[in-house]
Amino acid sequence: MAVLSLMACSNSSDAESEKKSTEKSQTVTDTDDKKQNAGEKRESGDGQSGDAGAKDTVVVYFSGTGNTKKVAEKLSEELPADILEIVPAEAYTSENLDYNDDSCRANQEMNDESARPEIGNDLGEVLNYKNIYIGFPIWWGTNPRIIETFLDTYDLSGKMIYTFCTSGGSGIETSVSDLKKEYPDLDIQGGYRFDANADNTDIQKGIEGLTK
Ligand SMILES: Cc1cc2nc3c(=O)[nH]c(=O)nc-3n(C[C@H](O)[C@H](O)[C@H](O)COP(=O)(O)O)c2cc1C
Repeated sequence: MAVLSLMACSNSSDAESEKKSTEKSQTVTDTDDKKQNAGEKRESGDGQSGDAGAKDTVVVYFSGTGNTKKVAEKLSEELPADILEIVPAEAYTSENLDYNDDSCRANQEMNDESARPEIGNDLGEVLNYKNIYIGFPIWWGTNPRIIETFLDTYDLSGKMIYTFCTSGGSGIETSVSDLKKEYPDLDIQGGYRFDANADNTDIQKGIEGLTK
């Protein structure tokens, strides 16, 4: 992790205030839903975007401390789209997200390319949509590993996939190229970084940027 001096992020004061917000507002949603069947990829009918009866657009997001959640909710209003949250089976505590601590859970996961933190809810619904916006915070310059758990669990081939993030300053480009490399069969259109406090005009700009 030493090489990834945390701010790949361009602005260390941003990073600091992001960190404070991380500590302040750990947001977790109930995990009553069924646990995912590990190791088995789930597919829709024929997995194609032209599925008869396929719904149009959904926003799927993971958020550790609520920034990406806020943006995801606005994005789902503006698109418009349905919304699904990726809920970790084991919620991230603020200690888990303390990236100044080399051994915190998030850092351990990011240091291990094969880490696939378990998802606690059933997101099978995602297979019913044609266009999928996937949102996450940037961790160490890229997407949290739970996004890979999601992509390993649900076969999104044939769908149009857009990504978005919030961050302390880092862009989404590294994540987009990492995901394209790891999932060459997916139609990943690109990505957009939103400010955590993006307003509806910013969100519209992002949608234009993603779909132009
Ligand atoms: C483990 C960890 C690593 C992070 N790494 C970066 C980074 O490399 N670049 C950056 O700009 N922000 C980084 N951040 C800050 C988050 O991307 C930022 O606070 C984001 O808005 C959090 O979104 P959330 O509230 O949805 O979890 C990191 C945060 C954590 C917890």
